[in-house]
Amino acid sequence: MRALCPGSFDPVTFGHLDVIKRTSRLFDEVVVAVGRNSTKNYLFDIDERIALTNGACEEFANVRVTEISGLLVDVATELEADVIVKGLRFAADFDFELPMAQLNRSLCGIETLWLPSSPEWGHVSSTMIREVARLGGDVDQFVPPEIAAAIKAKYPPEPNGGS
Ligand code: PNS
Repeated sequence: MRALCPGSFDPVTFGHLDVIKRTSRLFDEVVVAVGRNSTKNYLFDIDERIALTNGACEEFANVRVTEISGLLVDVATELEADVIVKGLRFAADFDFELPMAQLNRSLCGIETLWLPSSPEWGHVSSTMIREVARLGGDVDQFVPPEIAAAIKAKYPPEPNGGS
């Protein structure tokens, strides 16, 4: 069976990679689909998010990365995906994800399954990582080294230490 793991991945975190890895053990093939949520402003553009996610998923033999250029259900139909898999960290994720799962099922019949996040990544979000990095904090424990370097490149240290 082919599973689709969609998300913004701005940028991909160890929390995302944990869900992708666990999904890759449950299904024959996983397609990570990088998309746009029209309510979000992104730090990395779509090509950067795809490239960074691609690099981070290289270690998984049955995982590949694609773009959601329109609707997620169109990607699911085109790729003949059997199921959408997403991670859930806390109740707010459920409130956000439930209507999307119901909408996607109404649109093309595809089911969504949720994996509970691993406890060590339950507090990690791309939003918080961007905020920590923007304010000069260290994000190395939350993302692979290549992603940490890409984030640092977006937020270079200010001359004279910001004074
Ligand atoms: O990581 P996110 O921001 O929760 O990912 C949301 C994403 C990109 C998966 C979602 O917005 C999406 O599927 N976008 C593609 C457009 C679409 O299908 N919209 C209808 C479902 S809300």
